[in-house]
Amino acid sequence: MKNKKEKIKYTNEEQDLLNHAISKVKKIFEDYSDPAHGIDHIERVASAVNKIISQEGANKPFLCELSAWFHDIGRTLEDNPGETSRKHHELSYELLNKWFEDDSSFDILSKEEKKELLYAVRYHWNDAADKYDTAWILRDADKLDLFGDVGLERVWKLFKDNDNAWDQHLRNVFSCYYFLRTKTARQIADKLMPETEKRLNKYLKSKIDKVNL
Ligand SMILES: [Fe+2]
Ligand SMILES: [Fe+2]
Repeated sequence: MKNKKEKIKYTNEEQDLLNHAISKVKKIFEDYSDPAHGIDHIERVASAVNKIISQEGANKPFLCELSAWFHDIGRTLEDNPGETSRKHHELSYELLNKWFEDDSSFDILSKEEKKELLYAVRYHWNDAADKYDTAWILRDADKLDLFGDVGLERVWKLFKDNDNAWDQHLRNVFSCYYFLRTKTARQIADKLMPETEKRLNKYLKSKIDKVNL
């Protein structure tokens, strides 16, 4: 990856667009109540993206940060908030396309840059979508919000009454760990894995009953 920097610096024009994008995203999440995928999740993903790009660099750091803010905007359009289907990825992609069409603030981005953002947002579920580093940096940052106490608690709130979904989720966390791609994300996840393993183990043990004959 290129442009490795201690601190990412944007032009004034970029900083203005980033601020505009952040307030636009915050506004649509104002009335959104899903405990697992609210604005706090988006903020943690944006902060994780910043950690990754300041450690390892990125071809387009500005697009990486924007992609974090945009990646889950489609959550606000779901019929059943928090649903586990892939629908919100498509909804995020469609809504971002509409923003690009309707909001002239985004005109400072080139067509190629817009396409890169749309690709990263649309495929933030797909570990084989690696046309741009923006896409896998976003996925790593998004995955980091699954591990450890904060990550587990936010999804537990959603699935505490759905045993199958919780079982599936815990397994999914380990699959996400396997697919981490950047060194920085792996280092952060490694610190959070003992807590994650403890939770899975506790859950599995709670499912062991006496065998009667
Ligand atoms: Fe998502
Ligand atoms: Fe997310």
